Amino acid sequence: MKYMESELEWLKVSDSIFDENVIKNIKLNNNVISIVFNNNRLYAFQSKCPHSGAKFSEGFLDKNNCLVCPLHKFKFKLTNGLNVTGEGYRLKVYPTKLENSIWFVGIKKENQI
Ligand code: FES
Repeated sequence: MKYMESELEWLKVSDSIFDENVIKNIKLNNNVISIVFNNNRLYAFQSKCPHSGAKFSEGFLDKNNCLVCPLHKFKFKLTNGLNVTGEGYRLKVYPTKLENSIWFVGIKKENQI
């Protein structure tokens, strides 16, 4: 889902050193989301699979840089959350930006994760 810039609150990701392709959970505004650093970009997305709630922190990225759920192996595109294996689910993704060597995640204001 796309939001206007003014609808977003940009929250600093405290850990500015990331291990490539390692999916981690972080807490922002009292909500847990997942992040992964891949090809010089930080991606942020919901921490649990929209299918049956498996933890993406136990998943991995495939050779096409798609997020693979650890439980049933459904795959999702990091850029837009599209379920590329065709099961019809959608991953919630959050915009990210880099400013002065610090990564930020854009969360819709009013704490709606
Ligand atoms: S719980 Fe993720 S694919 Fe089933």
